Amino acid sequence: MQKPNNRLENQTCIITGSSSGIGAAVAKALGAEGANIVVNYRSSKEAAEEVADEINKNSTSGEAIVLHGDVSKEEDVKELFKKTINHFGTVDVCVPNAGLQIDHPLHEMPLDAWKKVIDVNLTGQFLCAKEAIIEFMRRGIRKDVSNSLGKIIHMSSVHEEIPWAGHANYAASKGGLLMLMESICQAYAPHKIRCNSIAPGAIKTDINKDVWSTKEGRENMLKLIPYKQIGVPEDIGSVASWLASDESEYINGTTIFVDGGMTCYPGFTTNG
Ligand code: BGC
Repeated sequence: MQKPNNRLENQTCIITGSSSGIGAAVAKALGAEGANIVVNYRSSKEAAEEVADEINKNSTSGEAIVLHGDVSKEEDVKELFKKTINHFGTVDVCVPNAGLQIDHPLHEMPLDAWKKVIDVNLTGQFLCAKEAIIEFMRRGIRKDVSNSLGKIIHMSSVHEEIPWAGHANYAASKGGLLMLMESICQAYAPHKIRCNSIAPGAIKTDINKDVWSTKEGRENMLKLIPYKQIGVPEDIGSVASWLASDESEYINGTTIFVDGGMTCYPGFTTNG
């Protein structure tokens, strides 16, 4: 359990794809800050309910609810925001996190695999950011809860910077997120909206289980991490709660890499 700090009391946070992995850890971390939490899921209702139950059990001031929605569908995203606003009154923090990998060498990649990954990882984050901005501007600033009009925290990846052979759809979606995030900052920072990204490295979740669950896979992964440690979802949760709070108020239009140094290209330690 995270140590409660209540930096997000009276604020409402939507975290997409938060029934498991990084999304679940972010939901729990923001919940531990006293926020109201929307645990969004596409297919795992039971798992989402477990995340919400845990938050409700531990929270000192907030409430967690579970809402369904496929972020790649505009009507689902609109509905997700509408239901959240009906229940909690507004949205203060949006963490578009839902994402997936469908890996193929480029010359074998079916168009469907390309489209699906772009639809969820990039278009889904655009749709969520758009609805969040509409709501922030409708509601207006609430100085009693935050100096910002609202906060968007995109869940990116080290692969917004590191090219990834065999995963071009995923890397392209994350590279696109960098420009989406920076363009939002450029346009909406004057409205006091903060938009940043977190770029996780190798974090132990289902998305990369086939790699870290074997000894060989783990060893190969560790070669890419100067800090010689595979991350855990809580490493991302703690950064997200700080980034959502006013403690990081002057940070806008930035990607925070949480990767044990992966973006320092350890392959070049001994050669190059
Ligand atoms: C991917 C993981 C991978 C990590 C580091 C993440 O964005 O989803 O599968 O282990 O980047 O390469």
